[in-house]
Amino acid sequence: MYATYWNLKKMPFENTPDPHFLYRSPQHEEALARMLYAIRYRKGGGLVTGVFGCGKTILVQAILDEIKQDRYKTAIVNNPQLDYAELLRAIVRSLKAIELPQKKTELSADYLLEVLNQILLNNMRDGKETVIIIDEAHIIQDERVFEELRLLLNFQLRERFLLTLLLLGQPELKQKIEDNKQLEQRIAVKANLQPLDLENTKRYIDHRLAVAGQTEQIFSDGAIGLIQENSGGIPRRINNLCDICLLNGSDKKVSLIDEEIVTQVAEYESS
Ligand SMILES: Nc1ncnc2c1ncn2[C@@H]1O[C@H](COP(=O)(O)OP(=O)(O)OP(=O)(O)O)[C@@H](O)[C@H]1O
Ligand SMILES: [Mg+2]
Repeated sequence: MYATYWNLKKMPFENTPDPHFLYRSPQHEEALARMLYAIRYRKGGGLVTGVFGCGKTILVQAILDEIKQDRYKTAIVNNPQLDYAELLRAIVRSLKAIELPQKKTELSADYLLEVLNQILLNNMRDGKETVIIIDEAHIIQDERVFEELRLLLNFQLRERFLLTLLLLGQPELKQKIEDNKQLEQRIAVKANLQPLDLENTKRYIDHRLAVAGQTEQIFSDGAIGLIQENSGGIPRRINNLCDICLLNGSDKKVSLIDEEIVTQVAEYESS
């Protein structure tokens, strides 16, 4: 463990979606603001796309952090590799509002839709907003599921959406949604997360180190340049590289991670 050597209170580059570590790059900030706008102003649907490891799941945690007051009832579905009825069941369970019958046969999609409608109306009556978040939504293969998600957004009362549906996934999700024009029209707010450029990679690394308790420079500017190049600016890959660099640096008892260490680590990692 290198934390003591580098004077860190926590491990700085863990690949966990801990929102305390969230670095608000201009695009993460924009994506967060847009999704919160969709939720707070009841815009219906929101979409966040981005390549693997660029920060979609940590963004979900940041959204949840912002809306954790009682006013919001949220359902999170992380593995939408489900057929429509299963997806509905996962949503209803996640909203934890109603005990569902045990028997699968009693859980038809129509029944579940009715239950969900009731939950939405109850939430509204209690002054609560319902937010449904589907992460990894690009996994959804069956077009009918998208069609049914559109139906969810049809739950409206006097021109007011009864729920906010946020979909997050890899870039191909955008096309899948565009293929269903009616669903697309109900997705009012969109954001796309790109890899970090050099300046934001530097700020990202500094930010994560600062959250872990270290504000002194640990990576030379040259090292950061190489990390950005080798990771393609993708946060998960930046984390992996920085983590091993800190480990190597502590083994070698250096006081600064330089280009030589990054080069060695990157070569090893890609071999
Ligand atoms: N803006 C950010 N600030 C701090 N850490 C981040 C940020 N973006 C990503 N990370 C880090 O990178 C890791 C990968 O990010 P995340 O899991 O959110 O990516 P993802 O887009 O959901 O990837 P996948 O498509 O594989 O599910 C996270 O665990 C987190 O540690
Ligand atoms: Mg993810």
